[in-house]
Amino acid sequence: MPLFIDASSRTAYLTGGNTSYILHVDENNRLLNLHWGSAVPDGSLCWNPDDYRSFVSFDLPLSIAPLDLPCVGAGWYGTPSVGIRNHSGDDITDLRVVSWNAQPGKPPLPGLPATYTEDDAEADTLSVFLEDSLTGLAVTALYTVFADSGVITRSLSVRNGGSSPLRVISLLSASVPLWENNLDIIHLKGSWARERAVVRTRQGEGEYRISSARGASGHEENPFLALCDTNTDEFSGRVWAASLVYSGSFMASCRTDNAFHSRMNIGMNPETFSWLLAPGESVCSPEAVLVFSADGLNGMSQTFHSLYRRRLARGAWRDRSRPVLINNWEGTYFSFNAERLISIAEKAKDIGVELFVLDDGWFGKRNSDNCSLGDWVVNPEKLPDGLSGLSDRIHALGMSFGLWFEPEMVSPDSNLYRSHPDWCLHVDGRPRTEARNQLILDLSRREVQDYIISAVSRVLSSARIEYVKWDMNRNMTEPFSAALPADRKMETQHRYMLGLYRVLDEIISAFPDVLFESCSGGGGRFDPGMLYYMPQTWTSDDTDAAERLKLQYGTSFVYPASAMGAHVSAVPNHQTGRSVSMRMRGEVALSGNFGFELDMSRLTQDDLAEAGELVRRVKAIRDLTRRGTFWRLLSPFEGPYTAWAFVSEDRSRILLCVYRTLAVPNSPPVRIRLRGLKPDASYIAEDGSVCNGAALMNHGLTLHLPGDFSSRVILLQSE
Ligand code: DGJ
Repeated sequence: MPLFIDASSRTAYLTGGNTSYILHVDENNRLLNLHWGSAVPDGSLCWNPDDYRSFVSFDLPLSIAPLDLPCVGAGWYGTPSVGIRNHSGDDITDLRVVSWNAQPGKPPLPGLPATYTEDDAEADTLSVFLEDSLTGLAVTALYTVFADSGVITRSLSVRNGGSSPLRVISLLSASVPLWENNLDIIHLKGSWARERAVVRTRQGEGEYRISSARGASGHEENPFLALCDTNTDEFSGRVWAASLVYSGSFMASCRTDNAFHSRMNIGMNPETFSWLLAPGESVCSPEAVLVFSADGLNGMSQTFHSLYRRRLARGAWRDRSRPVLINNWEGTYFSFNAERLISIAEKAKDIGVELFVLDDGWFGKRNSDNCSLGDWVVNPEKLPDGLSGLSDRIHALGMSFGLWFEPEMVSPDSNLYRSHPDWCLHVDGRPRTEARNQLILDLSRREVQDYIISAVSRVLSSARIEYVKWDMNRNMTEPFSAALPADRKMETQHRYMLGLYRVLDEIISAFPDVLFESCSGGGGRFDPGMLYYMPQTWTSDDTDAAERLKLQYGTSFVYPASAMGAHVSAVPNHQTGRSVSMRMRGEVALSGNFGFELDMSRLTQDDLAEAGELVRRVKAIRDLTRRGTFWRLLSPFEGPYTAWAFVSEDRSRILLCVYRTLAVPNSPPVRIRLRGLKPDASYIAEDGSVCNGAALMNHGLTLHLPGDFSSRVILLQSE
């Protein structure tokens, strides 16, 4: 049992893999966190409350208590985990533990995405019940520990058990104290086409906060924050990481208190969230996923990858190899008709591509981005035989067919907007700020959710459609629902997310065999919340191979390769103007869900032959890249070389990927030490050379990559 409750000391040990998370109910019935780190045997912790409070002379002991569910008003001064504005106008919240209980497995979170178990033996869950006796506020904190990895998930449910209304003004999914300071902070920062660059900085003495108020997790920050020892690297050292299973506005922060302890917070952004709780009503937080690694950053990422690939992603495609696709977006943009699409598909079929994806522009009168979102009716001028006619012709070529949607949006120039001008997020009397000429539908409204479900379902039933790209191309402004009363307006953003999750659940359940890929102007909503519904995400609109090294490296901090869409596009690249060989573009893309995004009918014979060779190789290794353990070996943020490797579960197959951006004159070859191999095994490369596992790990492989933008991908197999 990964959960052990020591009733005499009122201490719960949540231990899995090499990690323990230890909770304790103190003599005042407050919930304390005694330890989160390397494993501690059940029942063995020596804990003395004076460890933290004996030296407090002037200050209040509560101000530095290692609370796991801190609230303000009685001597604790940080960001509250549960912040309440009471009926009387004060914000005092005094939560005391009433009881706790254990159960095998992991309960689902109603209406919210969450990690799950398939067998009760995979995890245990501790439910802690707390109450504020004066107001009747009742909180249930759920802690699940996964037996194999020690991953802790944490979520809160808050109920008004009193007789007066309460307003929840902060509901953090996790607020974890660490008995450490002087750490480094890691997060993933970016913008459109530059998502998830790795930022590492010293913790310092103040508060460090990242957030999104955009109504989406966003391009700028990702709902992930890690703290680590200053000497932690990819292969060794301690890391404490938090990731939020949510796709809306969020915040993550850390802070050092005046007793030199740190605290890590993650949850919905309190600046964009408040929730009125009438007596008897409740609201739930999203789930935080807490990962500790004593094996450096690769150890942290491998734990996230395994959990998110196996127990967050769901559905028929979770465990299946993904088809090699061609998407027409960068090949044609809005300028296409059925014949042009078929000519691209024919070339793609010739080289073994399996799925043709029709992107934006197939509906309404959409020939640019200024109209028709919301009118999900095929444009007969472009596709005279409709979607079914086009899909039939694609299938006749032997390929499957996929389609782009942007269902959460409405163009002011659309029949939908003309019929329902109040269905978008807006505030009466203020301008409706457009971005990319579009507004956002108010998914907090049931009738809007139902419209999207029926419009998308109608299209998906009208033709053979095996794949959907679900796009979302702008962030919220005037983020309020006309359907909510003034005292509930601030609930709009979270209600939108709950509405979106309902829409996704309904559509995905109705079309269980369709492969869904989420997208948001590239990777603007690449988060665990979306991964629960769609097992893959379009990583970025930047398809330049050199930039992709950083994008895929940064994304891999949290997300598995099986979640990343990675395409070969035309040169000069449309985002950077850079020209990189077909070989390198392909050898970067084969580390994710491989595809093309160009007009294949315009490729040279040489490039077409190279592309065909890439497709052949992808099919041979895609099971390894989807399921293998991913090792980052050399960072594109630190020099001209990037290297990573995929190692099969039984360690018999290794795919080593090495890339160089700009050549450095007179530089020696690069030496790469592999990781995670069988030391005694002999590994044979495709050219027949044989290397010993220990030699590959301890001495390494020396490679010469000539010129700018070159790559080598080597498959090693043990005898
Ligand atoms: C943004 C996406 O990231 C692109 O791939 C493409 O689908 C466009 N939207 C279409 O408008």
